[in-house]
Amino acid sequence: MSSVIIVGSQWGDEGKGKIVDFLSEKADAVARYQGGHNAGHTVVINDEKFILHLIPSGILYKGKICLIGNGVVVDPAALIEEINGLRKRGVEVGKNLFLSKNAHLIMPYHMAIEKGKERLRGIKMLGTTGRGIGPAYADKTARTGIRVADLLQPQVFRENLKANLFDINFLLENLYKVSPFNIEDIYNEYMGYAEKLSGYIGDTDIIINKMISENKNVLFEGAQGTLLDIDHGTYPYVTSSNPIAGGACTGLGVGPTKISKVLGVVKAYTTRVGSGPFPTEITDSLGDKLRERGGEYGATTGRPRRCGWLDMVILRHSARINGLTGIALTKLDILDAIDVIKICTSYKYKGKTLEEFPKEINILEECEPVYEEVNGWSTSTIGIKDFKRLPKAAKAYIKKIEKMLGVKVQIISTGQRRDELIQLKGQF
Ligand code: GDP
Ligand code: IMO
Ligand code: MG
Repeated sequence: MSSVIIVGSQWGDEGKGKIVDFLSEKADAVARYQGGHNAGHTVVINDEKFILHLIPSGILYKGKICLIGNGVVVDPAALIEEINGLRKRGVEVGKNLFLSKNAHLIMPYHMAIEKGKERLRGIKMLGTTGRGIGPAYADKTARTGIRVADLLQPQVFRENLKANLFDINFLLENLYKVSPFNIEDIYNEYMGYAEKLSGYIGDTDIIINKMISENKNVLFEGAQGTLLDIDHGTYPYVTSSNPIAGGACTGLGVGPTKISKVLGVVKAYTTRVGSGPFPTEITDSLGDKLRERGGEYGATTGRPRRCGWLDMVILRHSARINGLTGIALTKLDILDAIDVIKICTSYKYKGKTLEEFPKEINILEECEPVYEEVNGWSTSTIGIKDFKRLPKAAKAYIKKIEKMLGVKVQIISTGQRRDELIQLKGQF
């Protein structure tokens, strides 16, 4: 038995969905532990593309238990839409899906608050996905959140909603200058969702711990990535949860002693959506080439992703913070057309060399990357499934990453599709 955390090692969109889907074949359960429908996890099976936002990527394999943990923030309308969309495409969603009673709900006013805040920030806007994620987590921490369990107790739901609207409506009208919300409208809307979701609501902490004690194989699916972590990322240009491996324990109610492995998903280059420092960003036409070859457009918002070179400073930070036991290196094939590949080994700041990722955002903003150059391979690696068949220069690139991080590459992804992958070491 094994319980394996799949964590994003950069700024999200590393290809977590593809890796979770691949590993799901041998898993009994797949559980999401944080984030919300800001996530967009793409899985391509044959020529069919699925984008998952809230539901674990394991849902695409029949018979896997899928859990949405307490650490997730849930927009019930988005969840219902996702369930219906999958069902329409023939994917079974029913007794295999469980939603934590302790997960917090995203409410319509969370989106309105986020919009107002971003507008007031002006050029310092965070570039969020606009899904209400930040304000929902803020309510959770402020102990004013409304939870999934409250959907099953209409009176409690109404009281909590009433208390919240008392000050939120004041804020909306007087600070953000937008219309207030009506309690009856939200109450009726959410009671409608309660009816549709009640069959899925359960004690996910009990379910997952029982499976672990029965020696089942469990996957924990992270959303976003380490550099978007609220504690360990590029604050304030982060999301409002803990995508790092530690988040799996709090976000599901699983003790750290139950975790067997932590697999870091690393894209062979780097991307970032939204605002914030990005030392290895490529701002010339090469960046555009990577974006086009890699299809680097947000799976949730469609926004173009900023592209850059692999950054060992952030990856060393990521390996340490997450306690990585292995790496899944994705999108190697996108580098096929690049003659000279750069790897950032350290930063220069005011003439000094920084080996470690600085905590101060203003310092990070001024860091210049120090690069080591390696030869590209100028030949297609698309769909290669055997390590021996990779070009020599691609093998050298992989070995260099392993050496620099002190963590073994255990999976190499060479295409979008489920089967376009090299597995060097199994996780279960
Ligand atoms: P996630 O949020 O980490 O699950 O990643 P996204 O799905 O947002 O973005 C990753 C994109 O890269 C998706 O379009 C995937 O289908 C695609 N992808 C994943 N692995 C590979 C790969 O090895 N090669 C190529 N060409 N595309 C890949
Ligand atoms: P997956 O799971 C990439 C980014 C947003 C913004 C910041 C805060 O697909 O890897 P938020 O809406 O979370 O408050 O926005 O975080 N962001 C992501 N970037 N992939 C994601 O998810 C992301 N989810 C949020 O662009 O910069
Ligand atoms: Mg994504």
